[in-house]
Amino acid sequence: MKAFVVRQYAHPSKISLTLDAPEPMQAKDTILVDVYSAGLNFFDILQAQGKHQSKPPFPFILGSEFAGVVVPGQVFPPGCPFKPGDRVFGSAPGCFAERVAARIDNLEPMPDTLSFDQAAGLYVTYPTSFEALDGRAKVQPGEWVLVTAAAGGVGIAAVQIAKALGAKVIAACSSSKLQVVRDWGRPDAVVDYTADGWQKQILHLTAGHGVDVVYDPVGRVRESLKCIAWNGRVLIVGFAGGTIESIPMNLVLLKNISLVGIHWGPYQEHDPERKREVWRRLLQLLAENRLPPVLYPTVFTLDTVVDGLAELEARKTFGKVVMRVRDCAPPGASAKL
Ligand SMILES: NC(=O)c1ccc[n+]([C@@H]2O[C@H](COP(=O)([O-])OP(=O)(O)OC[C@H]3O[C@@H](n4cnc5c(N)ncnc54)[C@H](OP(=O)(O)O)[C@@H]3O)[C@@H](O)[C@H]2O)c1
Repeated sequence: MKAFVVRQYAHPSKISLTLDAPEPMQAKDTILVDVYSAGLNFFDILQAQGKHQSKPPFPFILGSEFAGVVVPGQVFPPGCPFKPGDRVFGSAPGCFAERVAARIDNLEPMPDTLSFDQAAGLYVTYPTSFEALDGRAKVQPGEWVLVTAAAGGVGIAAVQIAKALGAKVIAACSSSKLQVVRDWGRPDAVVDYTADGWQKQILHLTAGHGVDVVYDPVGRVRESLKCIAWNGRVLIVGFAGGTIESIPMNLVLLKNISLVGIHWGPYQEHDPERKREVWRRLLQLLAENRLPPVLYPTVFTLDTVVDGLAELEARKTFGKVVMRVRDCAPPGASAKL
């Protein structure tokens, strides 16, 4: 099968596609899924170079999230909720390939309303943002929420989810991406955080109150403390800007601030019940079309995945960047595959 195989650590631009990679083997609690679309992440660029803590043994196939169709003619683990031909999406290492072995507890059924491209990039971004805002910061209707890097994968999901929770949302991102956030996130206001004094705009928008919650996947915490309200909560989501900030703790003390971490990946291990609850609520919101997935307009393929990763690395993209691995089957026609 075609797959993006890493044989030694290298920048993705130095790796070429393998045309005859072996088919994946089924392991305990996994099922085989034909990959239709896969999501691209910064994580993939780091992992290919050995710069991420997740270091599978060589050779390994890149990729972590995808959507596809359950392969017929395989042995299903006891209690498996999926059957041949089901459309599923989820997370599995090695999904930059035509077929992958995926753990059943890392798969969800695909809502009928979504295409494979739309579903391929949902599995990490939406629950991360939902749990951050709902579970960790306990956002209340009417509160002000500031989302930084609001046009990125987790950022745009956070804008949509904060609105769905009834918050008043200010989306901050670089100037070229403001319109995307307006169109897809429908925030109450947008702010260009590359402009000097952007925090003053936020104080003005909130009539001097400041924001109750900051959702930060990029590394703008210290700057955001200039426009946070008394008793504010700051969600530490990621470091897309490349630097892990050091925060003077007197700033945290002065306004009664809570710094709150969110690490969604280990929920399966530490709190599987909450993971199920988050997905129950997300699947409902997705089925109601209240969280429209935002796709970067260029859809890549296994042959051009390197170009997609390069655009991601160059900070050119917005929403989710995906690649199409196989042509889409018509909805419901999966039994033929
Ligand atoms: N905590 C968790 O469980 C969890 C889960 C998923 C992801 N994350 C983390 O969240 C962060 C964002 O992930 P994502 O999927 O939203 O990424 P993404 O789609 O690539 O978006 C990142 C955004 O960050 C901004 N940015 C600022 N400086 C940048 C730089 N030097 N390089 C690249 N982007 C830069 C860009 O927006 P502007 O151009 O508008 O500034 C970009 O849109 C990552 O660090 C990721 O590891 C954490």
